[in-house]
Amino acid sequence: MTTMTTTTNTTTTVLDASGVTMRFGGLTAVRNVDLTVNAGEIVGLIGPNGAGKTTFFNCLTGLYVPTEGKVSYKGTVLPPKPHLVTKAGIARTFQNIRLFANMTVLENVLVGRHTRTKEGLWSALLRLPGFTKAEQASHERAMELLEFIGLQDKADHLARNLPYGDQRKLEIARALASDPGLLLLDEPTAGMNPQETRVTEELIFAIRDQGIAVLVIEHDMRFIFNLSDRVACLVQGEKLVEGTAEVVQSDERVIAAYLGTPFEGAPGAEEVAEVEAAEAEAVASTGTSPKDTTTTEEEDTR
Ligand SMILES: Nc1ncnc2c1ncn2[C@@H]1O[C@H](COP(=O)(O)OP(=O)(O)O)[C@@H](O)[C@H]1O
Ligand SMILES: [Mg+2]
Repeated sequence: MTTMTTTTNTTTTVLDASGVTMRFGGLTAVRNVDLTVNAGEIVGLIGPNGAGKTTFFNCLTGLYVPTEGKVSYKGTVLPPKPHLVTKAGIARTFQNIRLFANMTVLENVLVGRHTRTKEGLWSALLRLPGFTKAEQASHERAMELLEFIGLQDKADHLARNLPYGDQRKLEIARALASDPGLLLLDEPTAGMNPQETRVTEELIFAIRDQGIAVLVIEHDMRFIFNLSDRVACLVQGEKLVEGTAEVVQSDERVIAAYLGTPFEGAPGAEEVAEVEAAEAEAVASTGTSPKDTTTTEEEDTR
């Protein structure tokens, strides 16, 4: 990676997405979203289920060609092809874990490394006779990454035998193997226990400290507000608010989007009112407080 010498204190924009819109037939999943990520930043992307967060990631990484808008990385407009986006310097993990289950931990990282090496992937994986210095270097780099995430002792384990939390970590190591300047994480702590979540938080700080900017989607509010320098909130495909944790946390529209207080005229408002009335009645008749009904179930399955 080349280091840039800057004589001024101006911030370097790593990612610049402007006016990104993604329509699927009649459904506008992402509407005119602008978002930047600067060097050295961790930016959080929050929003209720179905808000368009993953779709937005897919637009950034070339998985989808946005209906409108443009995405630039370090000043260059990105071609909408996943491998070219990776090559340019953006790596990602997926909401649903995508590992090669029957490959070892090390091999999974080597696959991630592939975009940065000219050598054949199979030769690198199988250590064929032509195993070169460059491939040796790839192995060393992969082991370094496994050490960084704390999986060095499991390098030879099959990915499918790893506990869930380790699989999530391995995905991050694989993404880092392409030497990104920007890492996109889609719900990295989904399904993790509080201890694993804390470890992931430390890991993301460590990644940022290595000079990699991070854009992270997450449902866990405590996690995201603790982690992020800036947070943007998507609701129904639109960016509702963006700012520091304090600004976003105290924004009434964000609170409403999360706690389920319907916007005026929002679909489903009547049902919510009905449930609330029923709850109030239950409280009045039994004197007990109603169960927490604000938590919505994850719709995505792993
Ligand atoms: N490939 C697709 N085709 C049609 N609709 C899609 C597709 N991907 C996502 N959507 C729709 O776009 C909306 C946003 O989904 P998504 O980006 O997954 O939300 P989030 O990640 O915020 O939970 C949802 O209504 C979803 O059903
Ligand atoms: Mg999603």
